Amino acid sequence: MSEQSSRAVRIHAAGGPEQLVIDTVSVGDPGPGQVRIRHHAVGLNYIDVYQRTGLYPFPMPLALGMEGAGVIEAVGEGVTHLKAGDRAAYAANPPGSYCDVRVMPAMNVCKLPDSIDFETGAAMMLKGLTAQYLLKRCKPVEGLEAGDFVLFHAAAGGVGLIACQWAKALGLKLIATAGSDDKCKLALEHGASHAINYRTEDFVARVKDITGGQGVKVVYDSVGKDTFEKSLDCLKPFGLLASFGNASGPVPPFAPGILGAKGSLYLTRQTLFTHITSRERTQSMADDLFAVIASGQVKIRIDQRFALADVRKAHESLEARSTTGCTVLLP
Ligand SMILES: NC(=O)c1ccc[n+]([C@@H]2O[C@H](COP(=O)([O-])OP(=O)(O)OC[C@H]3O[C@@H](n4cnc5c(N)ncnc54)[C@H](OP(=O)(O)O)[C@@H]3O)[C@@H](O)[C@H]2O)c1
Repeated sequence: MSEQSSRAVRIHAAGGPEQLVIDTVSVGDPGPGQVRIRHHAVGLNYIDVYQRTGLYPFPMPLALGMEGAGVIEAVGEGVTHLKAGDRAAYAANPPGSYCDVRVMPAMNVCKLPDSIDFETGAAMMLKGLTAQYLLKRCKPVEGLEAGDFVLFHAAAGGVGLIACQWAKALGLKLIATAGSDDKCKLALEHGASHAINYRTEDFVARVKDITGGQGVKVVYDSVGKDTFEKSLDCLKPFGLLASFGNASGPVPPFAPGILGAKGSLYLTRQTLFTHITSRERTQSMADDLFAVIASGQVKIRIDQRFALADVRKAHESLEARSTTGCTVLLP
């Protein structure tokens, strides 16, 4: 039995970035189905903000972070896909990746291809697997084919810039929205067919204009409260609103009749964690992500790097909408 200590960023009460503190915790050996991983880089995600503020409630104290990459130090009984010394990366529950070293379930931890560095591995797993299932598994009832228009909000963010590139690789015409002209430019440089600054332009009117009055087959909406109703107005009849986040706040309750009135629309609220409930499923999605990166069609853009000790600044930047692409924390 070996015991070592690790820094772990935790909260002891829900609240603002000031709640993030660095505690020293003790880390033991992995039990059955677990691994011990030493992080070289940790991914920052908007879900970490929802957990910190209490929008997604957890028992306290809560160790934050759902994405990371590093080296496997030890594996528990029954773990066959990893061994000590392997380079690995993951998006996984339970939270706790904002640390030097941790013990965690092995199921969602994947071997990292040699061609992918640790920072990229830490930045891409949660966001890349999300783009994967949104574009490949979250389909409108009438299907999604090359040449179809889709609308993707917050397209210059972490998930967004991956989705722009992947959608282009699939032949989709992705209309991006973003909160500044510079962010719109970034989305276009990453494969969006059109970009709309939704702080200054009416995105419903622009989408109608771009699509010749037709609307899009799917809207991918992670902004939530501020965009929800207008997103419905961008859809073709029988179109799909794929809601997958609440950066502006949760969508308030609404009457389902609105879906009928706006064209027999479909609504789904998706989360990655329903898609990665088995080792096989996780690995096949990760293999698809590794392949699109190896092909050069998707590049992982890391625009912000913070020391783990500067985690408060990292959260402040993400919430202030001042980040683009992915952000990593470095232990
Ligand atoms: N359900 C899932 O499976 C899943 C998985 C991963 C991520 N997500 C969601 O996908 C979204 C993107 O995640 P990410 O980690 O890549 O973050 P991100 O896109 O890098 O950052 C969030 C972006 O949301 C936009 N935004 C719009 N209104 C906002 C507001 N009031 N406050 C703050 N930001 C606002 C900002 O871009 P603009 O300035 O361009 O508007 C901001 O940069 C998040 O909502 C996240 O929760 C969901």
